[in-house]
Amino acid sequence: MKNFIFENATKVYFGQGCVKEYLACLTRKYGDTVMLCYGGGSIKENGIYEEITSILIAAGKTVVEFSGIMSNPTYEKVMEGAKLARENHVGLMLGVGGGSVMDCCKAISIAARYEGDVWADFWAAPGIFEFEPLPLGVIVTVAGTGSECNGGAVITNEKLKVKTGRDYPACNPKFALLDPTYTYSVPQFQMVSGGFDILSHIMEIYFSQPDEDNVSDDIAEALMRGVIRDLRSAILDPEDYTARSNLMWEATMAENRIIKLGKRTDFECHQMEHQLVAYTNCNHGAGLAVLHPVYYRHIYKEGLAKFKRFAICVWGISTDGKTDEEIALAGIEALEDFIVEIGLPVTLQDLGVEKDIDLKTIADSCAIVSGSYKKLTHEEIFSIFQECF
Ligand code: NZQ
Ligand code: ZN
Repeated sequence: MKNFIFENATKVYFGQGCVKEYLACLTRKYGDTVMLCYGGGSIKENGIYEEITSILIAAGKTVVEFSGIMSNPTYEKVMEGAKLARENHVGLMLGVGGGSVMDCCKAISIAARYEGDVWADFWAAPGIFEFEPLPLGVIVTVAGTGSECNGGAVITNEKLKVKTGRDYPACNPKFALLDPTYTYSVPQFQMVSGGFDILSHIMEIYFSQPDEDNVSDDIAEALMRGVIRDLRSAILDPEDYTARSNLMWEATMAENRIIKLGKRTDFECHQMEHQLVAYTNCNHGAGLAVLHPVYYRHIYKEGLAKFKRFAICVWGISTDGKTDEEIALAGIEALEDFIVEIGLPVTLQDLGVEKDIDLKTIADSCAIVSGSYKKLTHEEIFSIFQECF
């Protein structure tokens, strides 16, 4: 394994009833005003809004609401939230939702306390910063991104046509409340999209050096098998508590830095998907589902032993009479079959991308990472996009 330092500053409260039990106490030390941040209103339909606001009001808090955080949150929305937080002298931001709400809140937590150009100084410039962002707590309502336990925030700058993410450890939420029953109302398409995002995060880490036996890869394989099993169960019964609670924790485990320890990590698929979003505003997990099998057919030869191991250990592919290459390809095919089985798209057309889209421009705008088994060129990314069509 590569050398590492590990810290995760987020305190997690997990399980049915955890919001009722701990929220009031957790907000106590952050002043009188809480900014309640949420998305398009699902929390008003499923009762979560009512439950949270009544706890906050009973705790004597003034609640400032910031709603309408869209999927793939924009820089403009971040600046709107930062202004509201400043004007109301907010002591704590409480993000209630999925990755989009949590990411937008993290970006607001920086922007609310920074006078300069937030895009240029933070989103276009990775690194560390020397001030304490506005404290943030999160309540997760859909399992997927794992944003609840890291400092990562992915923001779309619509003017520049760039979607990019940074992981600033200071942006880790102070606390994260994870009640699996809050995810029962997630529509099936969004549930499987979030589920595939979990799988994608694990694969993006697993398919990278080092490949010799290591703890991170062993955990990753167990997590991948779990996501596949739990998604199948949650599709059959959306209120299967075991499946929902496993998915929620698998999402956190995939992105709380633990399985990244000692690994280089890839994330080229995420780079490609983020730029597809910048140009088409497609759904994150669904976009990844389209890209992964095609991307893997482009790189498997450079990581043959690992793709063989993936086929055997994750998908149970039999090795009888097959060459290593055939086993590796059977694993990628099993991944693709699973995508179809759970109802996610396998082509860009299925994803709703218009025929006349300029795939070359999108391909040229993608960042190229160094952790992939095969360093892509913009030409090859263009080919991948064309094959995805
Ligand atoms: O907006 P509302 O009305 O709340 O509806 C949301 C939204 O339409 C709905 N939803 C959430 N909880 C629900 C629910 N509907 C019914 N019942 C519930 N309990 O789900 C929809 C999607 O929500 P969203 O937050 O957009 O999805 P997701 O969690 O997949 O987040 C995607 C964003 O996270 C970023 C992505 O790029 C994308 O912008 N990512 C963040 C990462 C991170 N910070 O570590 C890593 C990821 O790779 C990812 O890039
Ligand atoms: Zn993702």
